[in-house]
Order: sequence, then structure tokens, then C-alpha cells
Amino acid sequence: MVLGLLLSASGLPAAAFRPVAARHAMVVSSEPYACEAGLEILRAGGNAVDAAVAVGFALAVTLPEAGNIGGGGFMVIRLAGGECLVVDYREEAPAAASRGMYLDAEGTLIPGASREGVLAAGVPGTVAGLALAHRKYGKLPWRRALAPAIRLAARGFPVSFELSQSLLADRDSLGKFPESRRIFLRDGRPYEPGEIFRQPELAKTLRQIARDGPAAFYQGRIAQAIVATIEKHHGLIQLSDLRQYQAKVREPLRGSFRGYDILTVPPPSSGGVGLIEMLNVLEPLDLAAPNSYESIRVIAETMRHAYADRAAYLGDADFAPVPVRGLTSKEYAAELRSEIPKTKAEVAVRAGRPADFEAPETTHFSVVDAEGNAVANTYTLNGSYGCYVAVEGAGFLLNDEMDDFTAKLGEPNMFGLIQGEANAIEPHKRPLSSMTPAIVVQGGKVRLVLGSPGGGTIINTVLQVLLNVLVYHMDVRQAVTAPRFHHQWMPDQLVMERWGFSADTLHKLEGAGYQLEMRDRMGACEAIEIDPTTGWRFGAADPRAAGKAAGY
Ligand code: GLY
Repeated sequence: MVLGLLLSASGLPAAAFRPVAARHAMVVSSEPYACEAGLEILRAGGNAVDAAVAVGFALAVTLPEAGNIGGGGFMVIRLAGGECLVVDYREEAPAAASRGMYLDAEGTLIPGASREGVLAAGVPGTVAGLALAHRKYGKLPWRRALAPAIRLAARGFPVSFELSQSLLADRDSLGKFPESRRIFLRDGRPYEPGEIFRQPELAKTLRQIARDGPAAFYQGRIAQAIVATIEKHHGLIQLSDLRQYQAKVREPLRGSFRGYDILTVPPPSSGGVGLIEMLNVLEPLDLAAPNSYESIRVIAETMRHAYADRAAYLGDADFAPVPVRGLTSKEYAAELRSEIPKTKAEVAVRAGRPADFEAPETTHFSVVDAEGNAVANTYTLNGSYGCYVAVEGAGFLLNDEMDDFTAKLGEPNMFGLIQGEANAIEPHKRPLSSMTPAIVVQGGKVRLVLGSPGGGTIINTVLQVLLNVLVYHMDVRQAVTAPRFHHQWMPDQLVMERWGFSADTLHKLEGAGYQLEMRDRMGACEAIEIDPTTGWRFGAADPRAAGKAAGY
């Protein structure tokens, strides 16, 4: 609780995990150089959107496992005056894609086909999305916002321990593609921590985007390089797919929770629908003590319902009817609430019937500027290093976002998520996402900006951080640090962070019938809280990643 912070003897907030405090503006990202890029732009007079553009391009240089120009994502922008919109720059299926494209002649899924190699790649949206946001709201010149990323790519930066480990972890897959092997594995001499990683081809690509705007990427030399790489590896994306790609401005999905307004993303992400559906169910309930048996049980049962509905109904609403209004209504939440059992006790959860029913790796950053404009941005290549294919001569990796489609009904995707007909592959359709960038507004002013990576776990991570602040009154650093759990309906397991829960609590959950799956960590929520009274900005980089919060 920011308002009620107790002061320690030193005069600083007596929090177990102290957030970074700043008077005017704040950037939080999972990678420190990208965070500094955003701060540089804010200090140069840029607003939150300029800074977000700078962070987005910088991450494409410094966090190649997830930062990207070859992927896509969602940005929630809320201006200090109250105007709010979502930029949907999710990748989309190329024109030649079809629902059976990952099946063999017997109708069996071809292992890895939607995850590795260019057939896994959707048409990238990041450059179009960042350009659209900048065109609408940017204050500094486009070129200025790209300058830090170009500098990082051209001059290089010291490789962190985390980057060196991450590259090593994926060396087998990266090593299968000569251009990726050359750039990211230095042809078999992987980067040691502290060595300088220079990316001259990427610097050239970024300079062209800085000079010519998104046309350089979707029509010019870069587009030709993408298509040449795709053709060489027998993929589907053609020049016409790139030319027709458009980032879309969407109305934010709005919800309310105990007097707070929630602004988040509509389909083709399931994140906003899931978040609001769960908040509605939990709103009037006594949520007990944080991470107690009783709170975990009630929240986990709510998660099961929301993910069952995700599997049944969610997809790109431009292609299939999605009952967004019903799923996010308070009436439907009341129905689901009445179904939460007193114990888990073998109750099978199926997707409900909302009223209007008709038919690893991502990265998040949050920015708030001195005027109070806010940006929550989550974007991704999908799996770490996407499909592992770097565009020849252009220095960046392509995504494997096609795996987020329903490759075959009843078969899980890489996050173990079962998905439905509404998410079947169709030309130019956008695959269903779980990304959940969100902004919480209190009394007309931004209170919280947040989001997380983590595939299917994203929605539940955002839910828990939000509850930690709004219900359990943790400060934002405690809120992102607190241990997390996750239920996604299928597989019917309650996933728990290994380090965070007492043996007694785990034992009680098992006694109630939950099958527990222990995991080292879930997500990396990068969040900013604004004190509603003083306006101070508090930034929290999740300790699960090696990120940074910085402000002035
Ligand atoms: N690629 C992960 C997601 O969009 O949910």
C-alpha cells in the first residue's frame, strides 16, 4: 500500500523489497540497457510512447531471446487526459497458411514444425506496431527514439551472465541455422559474460527503419531479405504478406474491480478477457491472507474456469465470434462463483455459457512519464529466440508465433494450452495470445502499469500481482516478488513456485485433491505503481529476471 507505507528508522519505506522511487518518470524492463534507452529518451524530452518505442527497439538488440523486430505484441497506451487505446501488432498467418499445415498425411502433428524453422513464423508486427504508436502519440522524432538501439547494435554492449547462459541453453537449435549460428553463437565460440556483442547487420537494419520508417521493413530491402530467407528455408511468407500487414488500433478491454478501472487488451489476446473474468469472480469474495491455503484454493478454482473458457471460445475476433461481453460480465462471474466448490474434490470444470455466446519467451516493459502518460507493452518471438532463424544480412530473428494457433484440435501448444476451433489457422488471422499488458486507474489517474512474459501463465501472473497491490496492499516490489501459482484447466495441475510456499500449505492443497507441479519460477512482471496522493512513481523489476527499474 503506497498510501500507508510505514517509514523505517532511515526514513525509507519499511518494505521487505523496496521499489525504485522517482519523482517524475519511470521505465521498468527485463533488460537494463533497454531500460536505460527508455530513460535516455524521457530525459531528452520524450513522452512515455517515445520511451516505449526506444525500449522496444533496444530490447531487439540486447534481449534477442524475446526482444524483437521479427515478432509482435500488444501495447496499452493511456494518456494523462484519459484517452486510451490498444495497439494490436500481433503477428498474423501468411496468406498461404492453412489449418492442416502442421499435420502429416495421417493427420498427426509433425513434431516441432510449428516451433522451429521458418514454417513456424507469422508475419511480424513489431515495427508496424511501434511506428503506429509513435505516429499517433510520439513527441520526439522517430529517428531519435531509435538512436539508442542503433548505438547498442553498432557499438555493442557487454554480454551479461544471463544472456550468455540463455544463448548457451538454446545453442543446439540456434546452431541448426548458419546465420543464427554466426550471429548469436559466433560460429561456435559462444559469448562469455563481459565480451562485447556487436551486431552490424542489425544496426544497418535499424538505421534503415529510422530513415524510411516501417516501409523499409515491409516493402524495402528488409522485406526482400525476409522473403529470401523464408524461400531458402521453404517457408510461406511472401512479399505480399509483408506489404499488407497492418498494426490495428483497438478499443481497450475495460473492467472494474473494487472501484478500480482496469484497461487491458481484447482478442486476439485472451489475456484481457481472462484477467477481467477472474477479477469479476473474485471481486466480492473474502480472499483471506495472501498465498494461504484458502486464497490459493479460491483463486485456483477461478483460474480453472477462465482457462476452460479460453480453450473453448477465444481466438481472433476478426475471424471467429468471441463472446467477450458475456465472458467479462458481472452476471456470468456470479454464475461461475456459485460453482466454486468448498474443496476441489474432483469437480470437473467445463467452459461455461456466457450470455452472448453465439456460436517461453516474451518480455514486458512499463513506462510512465512526467505528465502521467502510461504505456504497458508486452511483445514476443513466442519461444526463446523464436523459430531460431535469423534473416540473412538483416541481423534479426523471426518468431514462431504460429504455434499459438490450434495446430490440431485437442493437442496442446508449447505452453500445454489446449485451444479451440475459434483459434484454428486461417490466412491473415492472428494467433490467440495470453499477453496481458494492463493499466489500473484509480479516481481518473493511473495507479498501476504492469504485464509479464510466461506463455500461458501470463494472465495468472498479472492477476496475482494486481491482487497483491489492490487487495493485499503490498507495495509494488513485494507484489511482483511474492511467490506465484498457476492453474490453466488442462493439464489439471496446480503449478506452484518451488521456493515460495510452506510445506503445510502444499500438503493441504494436495489433501484437497490438487495435483501439484513445482516450477522454479513463473513470469517476470515489470510494474510501476503511482502513489495516488503524492504522484511518486515506484518501479519494480521482477527478481525472476535480470531487469531494471529506473527513473528521474
Ligand atoms: N506467444 C505467447 C503468447 O502470445 O501468449
